[in-house]
Amino acid sequence: MNYSALIQNRKSVRAFTDKKVPHSVAQEIKTYFETSVKRLIPELKTELYLFCDDVKAMLEGAGGYNQFLVGAPQYLVLLSAKDELAELNAGFIMQDLVLNLTDMDLNTCWITFTDSELVKESLGIKSELDVAAVVAFGYGIKTTKRLRLNIKSMSNVDVVAKHRYMEPKRSMYDMVFLNTWGNTHKLDDHIGFFDDMLWEAFYAATLAPSYLNRQAYGFVIHDGAISLVRRPDEYTTDIDGKLSLGIALLHFTSVAENWAGKLRWSFGESAAKLQLPEGHEVVATCVL
Ligand SMILES: Cc1cc2nc3c(=O)[nH]c(=O)nc-3n(C[C@H](O)[C@H](O)[C@H](O)COP(=O)(O)O)c2cc1C
Repeated sequence: MNYSALIQNRKSVRAFTDKKVPHSVAQEIKTYFETSVKRLIPELKTELYLFCDDVKAMLEGAGGYNQFLVGAPQYLVLLSAKDELAELNAGFIMQDLVLNLTDMDLNTCWITFTDSELVKESLGIKSELDVAAVVAFGYGIKTTKRLRLNIKSMSNVDVVAKHRYMEPKRSMYDMVFLNTWGNTHKLDDHIGFFDDMLWEAFYAATLAPSYLNRQAYGFVIHDGAISLVRRPDEYTTDIDGKLSLGIALLHFTSVAENWAGKLRWSFGESAAKLQLPEGHEVVATCVL
């Protein structure tokens, strides 16, 4: 897959045609999950469920912003064994599936949920694993209007049609720092410019989907390593925050691996002095 191109083309889609994916496509998605999907923690047990029947009504009330569930002809549900890193891993895996679907000209939208048992019960899933990630997918309705999130307040989110609306994302200079948190002095000397490899990998991270588009994270380049840092965000719940971190890691990793080879992330605090403000924490670090 050409990750850079797929990442730049992907956007959340919230209106779908009724057209179902053919059986062969559903099978291809399952095979990709079983044989090729990128995993952050390969030893952590996961299961993928693909719902192709009309399950929107069954999921209603169990997922979506403010209980507003994006209606789609299919949903992907990823289950995971319990682990401190389960959501980070699930965000990583599911986003690789999302990009695989994008490659197949399918459209997607992540769906938030709060209660794993409720989702399992609603969908009749019998498994000892927990629901870790949900994504709606199908063939998006082609329109000149773009449906966008209308965040009136954090407890009042709906979707409206807008012409040619682009969701603002954090810029690279608000997300990538050198040696200490917040420092962008001489950053360009390190990451280069448009078309340079490291620049492309960070750019991919800035385009990652995140809960309420909050992008509650940043990266620090230090001591020949790169650390992903979680920013505190009062609107992002713990689970959605961790999923969003996993997604951002997948975007960075998938592009960086094109030239750096396999990246190995270690998790938790780094010994380096990154001068993180209160409430910020190092999530993962890799040596380049
Ligand atoms: C963990 C997570 C949960 C999300 N839940 C929802 C949701 O329930 N409903 C929805 O419309 N969008 C949901 N989104 C999509 C985000 O709102 C979207 O990624 C963000 O607004 C950025 O837009 P983009 O994906 O087009 O780049 C979710 C995204 C993430 C990462």
